[in-house]
Amino acid sequence: MPEVLFEPTKLGSLALRNRIVMAPMTRDRAGPGDVPSDIMVEYYRQRSGAGMIVTEGTQPSLEGKGYWRTPGIHSDAQIEGWRRVADAVHSEGGTITMQIMHCGRVVVADNRGFEADVVAPSAIACPAKVPGPDGVPQTPQMPRALKASELTALAQEFGDAARNARAAGIDGVELHCASGYLINQFLNPVSNLREDEFGGSPENRARFPIMVLKAMAGSIGADRVGFRISPGNKYNGMDVSNPWETFTPFLREANKLGLAYLHVVDMGEDCPDTLAMCRESFSGPIIANNGFNAERAEHVLAHGKAQAVSFGLKFIANPDLPYRFRNDAELAKPDFDKIYTGEAAGYCDYPALA
Ligand SMILES: Cc1cc2nc3c(=O)[nH]c(=O)nc-3n(C[C@H](O)[C@H](O)[C@H](O)COP(=O)(O)O)c2cc1C
Repeated sequence: MPEVLFEPTKLGSLALRNRIVMAPMTRDRAGPGDVPSDIMVEYYRQRSGAGMIVTEGTQPSLEGKGYWRTPGIHSDAQIEGWRRVADAVHSEGGTITMQIMHCGRVVVADNRGFEADVVAPSAIACPAKVPGPDGVPQTPQMPRALKASELTALAQEFGDAARNARAAGIDGVELHCASGYLINQFLNPVSNLREDEFGGSPENRARFPIMVLKAMAGSIGADRVGFRISPGNKYNGMDVSNPWETFTPFLREANKLGLAYLHVVDMGEDCPDTLAMCRESFSGPIIANNGFNAERAEHVLAHGKAQAVSFGLKFIANPDLPYRFRNDAELAKPDFDKIYTGEAAGYCDYPALA
């Protein structure tokens, strides 16, 4: 029977009633205007027994959108929509942070429904295909390289997104620095060929990501800002030949900011000793992720390698996952055909046990 898993904890100013975090998961259910829909309110309410929910990746601007029906946090209607989500989670005693995700070059134009630039550190297309509205992979758009003179304002868009999330009643924000999206594109040597102070050495490549974290912390306080990395993850064309050369300087700078937490996708054999390497450079709370079950989560927590563990897939079909862990109950399996349909079925119709 896991014990530490059910202990309350704090990540910065974020209070968790247990150490079970719901990992961010894009589910393509936003309504017109990329506004959170009624079924999103219900979906997140059902999962509020988590110590903390991290929402799906949410774009800070029109340019940040790359996928179909992903929500935003840059319009008044979106803020109102998220307020309904935050209220629903809080009414059940839960805590919720929003993942801020700018896709950068990972964009299929048909997914957007509006015209906006596709931007990246360098004008290099994402080599991987990206799903369109029907789920069929398409060749992504060619991005234009961001000018150095644009970067202060772009970082502030993330700061504004954080402020908007708080205005909606969301408890904190998580910067998506993983999986080959804009921040990861700046960090990684194959997607960032800039010759100015934002490219070249690992320290220079970390400069814009750190500016963004500072802008978010400046808007809402560092103790409500977390960030997520996935060293060794090739997704969306990232080079993984030397992840620690890239991530160590970034983590050391981020460590100076007093952030709420670092969320780590541990790629296992593809990147050995990830949690230990993160601990060497970052002294704040760590949330561990990737392929955990209750037993392995308990082990990592009991050995002090992380303060919390996040679960993705298991939360899809088990809205009451903490209850099931506590009672050693069977876990339901998700219907993979319904993950990204945009419909209520396979989203907010998985029953709780109790
Ligand atoms: C349907 C789906 C959508 C996802 N969307 C996101 C996302 O928006 N942002 C992100 O950082 N990770 C995303 N992920 C990755 C998960 O957060 C998590 O890292 C992954 O599922 C591994 O954890 P697990 O083994 O507990 O499922 C997604 C995963 C799934 C299955």
